[in-house]
Amino acid sequence: MSNLLICGHINLETTLRVDRFPLNYFPVCYPFFGVHSRAAGVGYNIARALTTLGNPTRLLSLIGQDAVGQLVQHSLAADGLKTEGVLPTMPETCQSVILYDADGRRQIHTDLKDVQSRPYPPDIFQQYLPWCDLAVLCNINYSRPFLAQAKQAGKPIATDVHTISDLDDDYNRDYMAAADILFMSHERLPDAPEDWARKVQNRYGTAVLVIGLGAEGALLAVRQDNLMERFPAVFTRPIVNTIGAGDALFAVFIHSYLQTGSPTTALHYALTFASYKIGAVGAAEGFLTAVELEKLVIGNQ
Ligand SMILES: Nc1ncnc2c1ncn2[C@@H]1O[C@H](COP(=O)(O)OP(=O)(O)OP(=O)(O)O)[C@@H](O)[C@H]1O
Ligand SMILES: [Mg+2]
Repeated sequence: MSNLLICGHINLETTLRVDRFPLNYFPVCYPFFGVHSRAAGVGYNIARALTTLGNPTRLLSLIGQDAVGQLVQHSLAADGLKTEGVLPTMPETCQSVILYDADGRRQIHTDLKDVQSRPYPPDIFQQYLPWCDLAVLCNINYSRPFLAQAKQAGKPIATDVHTISDLDDDYNRDYMAAADILFMSHERLPDAPEDWARKVQNRYGTAVLVIGLGAEGALLAVRQDNLMERFPAVFTRPIVNTIGAGDALFAVFIHSYLQTGSPTTALHYALTFASYKIGAVGAAEGFLTAVELEKLVIGNQ
């Protein structure tokens, strides 16, 4: 198992099941057991997935001093996540509302409050840095300064820039340039994923790049091996909500890559884990333990 330092977003996520998109107007609806709230967010999802797989984790994040923040603290403890690095320094905790339909398609509405203008104390990051085998630096603004700190300490960096369409994207450039393991989504790419992957490799020298292709699986590009290959999605159980699929793929890839050193093995495990995960309602739910994952991977061979 690996020690993982994760700096990333937490919010209260409310999921709402709807019949279909687009949503027709009606004044009231009664989706019994169709509304569900829990702590989630990219940092939370990744930390919980990696912890469930048995890795020691430290999650650094910002939440609010409000009642929602207390709920998040409670969830962290209940999920076995360390709470010291999650600082209640904001007036309000971030929240998101996710609408999802019968096919598992999701529409995300996210309220970041003022988190993008708030710093995370660099001394706390520095304190945990020597302990970790790898730093997962999510693309929330307060983790940006830590890219340089991790690089300077010689720690590998993994990051996911999610939807992207510009190689020079002002917001995500720093993350793409610093990442040893870089994830992104195909959803808004201007080129075929393979062409885009080559451009990313040429611009940023990315060692390991994964592009999530949704129902089509994922593309893996490994610079040193000159590997560029698509891997199909895996089916383990019916889809409920695809929210958090990319976070699950990313977390297990890191877990397995650090264990095996093989990016193809890592993606194979990640695709199985992601498939199982999207059979759950929330982004921070539906995670397998390492033993359960192993069984499913072997069973699917
Ligand atoms: N509709 C789907 N059908 C089957 N598998 C899916 C579906 N959506 C996602 N997956 C699985 O989850 C993985 C990650 O999903 P996806 O490629 O959509 O991630 P992403 O676009 O990077 O992130 P996000 O979670 O924001 O969509 C896919 O590689 C696939 O294995
Ligand atoms: Mg996607």
